[in-house]
Formats: sequence, structure tokens, C-alpha cells
Amino acid sequence: MDPTRPIGIFDSGIGGLSVLRHIREQLPAEDLFYVSDSGHLPYGAKGSDFVAQRAQQITRFLIAQGAKTIVIACNTATAAAVASLRQQHVLPIIGMEPGLKPGIAASRNGVVGILATEGTLGSAKFRDLLRRHGEGARVIIRPCHGWVRQVESTDLSGPRALKVVAEEIQPLIDQGVDSLVLGCTHFPFLHQTIRQVVPAKTHIIDTGPAVAKELKRRLAEQGLLRRSTEGEVRCWCSGEIAQTQYQVERLWRPGCPVLPLPAK
Ligand code: DGL
Repeated sequence: MDPTRPIGIFDSGIGGLSVLRHIREQLPAEDLFYVSDSGHLPYGAKGSDFVAQRAQQITRFLIAQGAKTIVIACNTATAAAVASLRQQHVLPIIGMEPGLKPGIAASRNGVVGILATEGTLGSAKFRDLLRRHGEGARVIIRPCHGWVRQVESTDLSGPRALKVVAEEIQPLIDQGVDSLVLGCTHFPFLHQTIRQVVPAKTHIIDTGPAVAKELKRRLAEQGLLRRSTEGEVRCWCSGEIAQTQYQVERLWRPGCPVLPLPAK
């Protein structure tokens, strides 16, 4: 396969940009094609069949744009669709899951909080993760209602953001959590606000850098790394273009055009 082809990345909204920024940092020569499925957000409250169907459609679109690999920059869509996508497509498909293992490794008292969507926390994939790696720790899960919408609003640190974050985090602090896993790609955008609310010793785990590292490893292994250019970023969305354009400018950078995602 031609290594100059782009990397396809998608999420329900702009949360996946928190992963894209690490990919960009670690792989600056790559073209990154990003889809925000903003017309169908939030995935976390939809059933897994619906999310899997969206993931299939977006993956087909990205492959039609020439993608050499797909990054599911969404924990919820990974839980719902990574297995079927890998069965149907031969190109590398990189998924995400909450960083339970690093979360437990970082904890001193063994009390770990997992922040993710209902869809992720209720999935068979997450139950399996807990069974394999949750042993010996007290794992407290928390579907952070309202955080995805808060990030989509691009108010990441104002009084409302602080209130929404504190409401979800306080019960975890009360239970002694000293390690917090951000198991939804929207949540790293709230990192600084979370920091304001938790005790200073609390570890906050974001799996974005590890996903970018794994992507780099997989591309290198298959001879698909692109070199010696400066890659571009292109975006598509299934919702309102002007809104996504604004979000991308605020959470990524200006000058990145957003195009409509074809309905079929
Ligand atoms: N950003 C997504 C995740 O990592 C899901 C957000 C949503 O649409 O509920 O799970």
C-alpha cells in the first residue's frame, strides 16, 4: 500500500481531536482525515447496534478517501464496533479502551476511578477488561453525564464547566480515588478543570499518547510510515458545518476546512 495515503480518524464529535493532537505530534508528516459524527452525538447514550452501524459507514467513507489505516478515536465506538470492523477490513484498525492498567499502576491506595460513557461502561468489552486487569484494585466507574456536551460547547474552564466537572468528581474524591482514568476522548479537554477539583496527588490518565504510539508502531511494522513532508488535516462532519468549524478552530487550530459528510 502507498505510505503517502492518509490516516482516517473518527469520533462522535470533536472528542477525537484530543487523540488527533497526539497523532499529529508523533507523526507530523502524515495526512490526517478526521470525521466528527456530530449529527449523531452522543454515542454514549445510543445502543451499540446504532453506534456500530455509524462506525461501519464512517469507516467505509474514510477508506473511500484513501485511508491506509483507521483510528477509532472513541472508546464507545471501539467497544461497539472494533471487532466487526477488523473482520470486515484488512487495513490496520486501531481502537481505544479506558486505561485501566495504567490507572491501577499509578494508584498508591488501589482506589481507581474510571470516567467514561454509559455505552463504554456497559459494554462486554469493558467487562472483559475489568475481569482481566481489575484484580486487586477497587474500581469505581462513573458515567460522566453532561461532560461530552460540555466539551462540545467548547467551554472547557468557565464556571459552568467547573460545576459540571465537580459534580461528577466529588463522589469519587469522597471514596478515596487517587487515580482517575479518562475513558472517553472528550474528557482530556477538561483536564485542567479536573485538576482544579481533585487533590494534587491524584493521577489523571489519558490514553491518547499511547494510541498515537501504537499507531506509529503499527505503521512502521507495515512499512506505511510517511516521511519528509508536512501533513495536512482535513475534517468532515455529519451535523452543522458552521458549528464544527468553530469547534475545530477552538480545539484544534484555525485554517482547517470542514466539509459535509455524505449521508450514504
Ligand atoms: N468520545 C467518545 C468516547 O470516547 C464518546 C462520546 C459520546 O458521543 O458519547 O467514548
